[in-house]
Amino acid sequence: MAIEKVGVAGCGLMGSGIAQVCAQSGFPTVVREVNEALVEKGLKSIEKNLDRLVEKGSLSASDRAATRSRLKGTTKIEDLAGADIVVEAIVEQLAAKREFWSVLEPLCPKQVIFASNTSSLSITEMAVGTSRPQNFVGLHFFNPVPVMKLVEVVRTIATDNAVYDQAHSFALRLGKTPVRTTDRTGFIVNRLLVPYLLDAVRALEEGVASIEDIDNSMKLGCGHPMGPLTLLDFVGNDTTYHIANIMFEEFKEKRFAPPPLLKRMVLAGWNGRKSGRGFYDYTDPKNPRPVKLV
Ligand code: 3HC
Repeated sequence: MAIEKVGVAGCGLMGSGIAQVCAQSGFPTVVREVNEALVEKGLKSIEKNLDRLVEKGSLSASDRAATRSRLKGTTKIEDLAGADIVVEAIVEQLAAKREFWSVLEPLCPKQVIFASNTSSLSITEMAVGTSRPQNFVGLHFFNPVPVMKLVEVVRTIATDNAVYDQAHSFALRLGKTPVRTTDRTGFIVNRLLVPYLLDAVRALEEGVASIEDIDNSMKLGCGHPMGPLTLLDFVGNDTTYHIANIMFEEFKEKRFAPPPLLKRMVLAGWNGRKSGRGFYDYTDPKNPRPVKLV
């Protein structure tokens, strides 16, 4: 079966990015959110991104219009049933994801591929909640989805080889570079990235250096586009804290244990850019100021 139509569940930061990339790559795409306000918000952010591309001259006005016409927002889960692949990017909670798949599954023909964008939950645990674990994969995109080239294509021990190959080709058709990986918590990127980010917080806690000097070190010394504390604010401290806890629970290794400072920041709601404050204060978003934390 060729993948021609795409369903995306969730139109938040990741879901809207995934829907945008699918529509821009020529796929009729239905994106579903739980209420009209969220559908509207997600579609608005896609339109804003497309407008920026037109302004920069990297997308023609007619391609913008064609992309938008391929996108449909909905609140009805049934509207996802006509897709050949459903990419789920809803809230990062196993119970919510399992509930979503259990409602969707009976509505979909049996060949439909189910893909989760989870960053750290078990694809197997989602797959076994359906009667088609062989059709289940992970497709893990990176933020900002329209810019980041990587997609981790995740297989479980139950994934059918042909389904896995189709998911891999689908990522290629989205203009991404897919990498093959298996259902081990954190896959490739977060296994390496999360301990690095947590170590940056530990370095700050231990007084190794200031926020700015830690960030500048990794930017200027290693050529990273963002320093680790800026990246934490960008990803969201709550998100990294959540992922770290899942990884720690799975592996029981100290390198995945979230440091106390990160926990306290999350408790205080200092989740980074989206909450206006994290390691930096974003009162002036163009000129973030480091926050005194230790
Ligand atoms: N949506 C669409 N396009 C965006 C964008 C967004 N949210 N943010 C930036 N861009 C585009 C800009 O328009 C610009 O395009 P152009 O080159 O065609 O003009 C390009 O990206 C570069 O943007 P800027 O010049 O504004 O800024 P930077 O050069 O600093 O790039 C960045 C911004 C791409 C975010 C860069 O800083 C970066 O790569 N940072 C690291 C991001 C990263 O590591 N992401 C992975 C996070 S981990 C994750 O997602 C996994 C999860 O499981 C936690």
